[in-house]
Amino acid sequence: MRSVILWGPGRRAEGMNESDGEAGTGKLWGGRFGEATDAFIERFTASVGFDSRLWRHDIAGSIAHATMLAEADVLTEGEARQIVAGLEAIRCEIEQGRFAWSVELEDVHMNIEAALTERIGEVGKKLHTGRSRNDQVATDLRLYARGELDELRGLLWRLRSALVELAEREAGTIMPGFTHLQSAQPVTFGHHMLAWQEMLSRDDARLADCRRRINVSPLGAAALAGTSYPVNPARTAELLGFDAAAGNSLDAVSDRDFVIELAAAGSLLMVHLSRMSEELVLWMSAQFGFVDLPDRFCTGSSIMPQKKNPDVPELVRGKSGRVVGHLLSLLTLMKSQPLAYNKDNQEDKEPIFDTLDTLKDCVFAFSELVPAIECRREAMREAAGANYATATDLADYLVRKGLPFRDAHGVTGKAVAHAIGQGKKLAELSLPELRSFSGLIEANAYEVLSVEGSVAARNHPGGTAPTRVRQAAAAARKALAAEASAQRDAGASSSIS
Ligand code: ARG
Repeated sequence: MRSVILWGPGRRAEGMNESDGEAGTGKLWGGRFGEATDAFIERFTASVGFDSRLWRHDIAGSIAHATMLAEADVLTEGEARQIVAGLEAIRCEIEQGRFAWSVELEDVHMNIEAALTERIGEVGKKLHTGRSRNDQVATDLRLYARGELDELRGLLWRLRSALVELAEREAGTIMPGFTHLQSAQPVTFGHHMLAWQEMLSRDDARLADCRRRINVSPLGAAALAGTSYPVNPARTAELLGFDAAAGNSLDAVSDRDFVIELAAAGSLLMVHLSRMSEELVLWMSAQFGFVDLPDRFCTGSSIMPQKKNPDVPELVRGKSGRVVGHLLSLLTLMKSQPLAYNKDNQEDKEPIFDTLDTLKDCVFAFSELVPAIECRREAMREAAGANYATATDLADYLVRKGLPFRDAHGVTGKAVAHAIGQGKKLAELSLPELRSFSGLIEANAYEVLSVEGSVAARNHPGGTAPTRVRQAAAAARKALAAEASAQRDAGASSSIS
């Protein structure tokens, strides 16, 4: 009775015997087979080693299916009640770590179905009426993806809120803004944090959009062609909190575009996190010295006693690679597959599981780390004023005095070259020196050369002026609050248990 055991005490397709047509293979599908599966092939084709984590979704899907079958008079009320009670007992068993998973039973679906028959007897064999593992696995995966996506969005919301808070705290902190990683123009640190928030809010919007296509029920599609029983796909969809039932049975069991889309949205999110990570790593270096992270987020070196390494952002930057890799795996897995279900699709699980695990960990890590960022305000201000970062402001000053911009650019460029030659900042040149480049320059030009003047002048929506940053942060805070209440409303209708 007990055979190849993955973990736990082991289980076979109990309740099946020769007369049911299993021909001694021990398989739920063994009827037409004349010999047992080769041991290696059994291990090679099995997915229970990783898809067992879908157990909660599998049971929820089965309970909805059995409930619908009874409503459609395919099962009696009593049969459905027995099946539901059996599944609930199995849920308890798994929750408590008492369930015996067996590789012989191939996947999560057959492990649970076999356990059901073992527990409630013959009636357990009726659960699979009007259903196939093909619509079953697609359902499980959609339920899983939906739940994980919601959790991820919750974490992302936390991170975005932390960025808005940090932006408010540092709205007036001046730092150099870069293009080509060369000092470009002064910006405010708060403005930079809100740029990160914008990137992540688009990631969130992509996830929300992806959710609409995830939240469609494949049940009723059965193996590929639908089923001859009078099933009610809209009812199972409703029971499982899906927005609708799938419109085509072939497509419902076959496509994994919802998984690919989720991995694509997740890849972009990881790419954004990798950019944020890279900046933190740079800013934490002695050469920049713009920020510091508390010791609890860092590690040391086993040989160099002075080291304090920004491991968390480095690791997040590194993990972006595995998520992008999973996206490529999933795209390649789907490419050229003929309709309808193919076993290839079993390979979708590990990449999407790891994608979501990684995303949740990285977003969580960042949501903890962002509030702890310590700004070295003096160092940032100092760097913001160096390297002629306010040269554009002098050119703009000349434009306001009537010079065409291209000429103002030329004049200022000459003044910068002169200052470089003198080893001085622009503001350290005397007024006569400055006037030698343009008679339009007067004493008030020194005001625009200050970093404070430079950021304050960029006073328009989306600009870096501290007042604008405070306004933008307030607007972002409001949007986040609205998202939270919308998510609370939606969450109530989509729980699986
Ligand atoms: N373990 C399979 C998967 O992950 C379940 C569906 C198997 N269906 C089949 N006809 N072999 O895709």
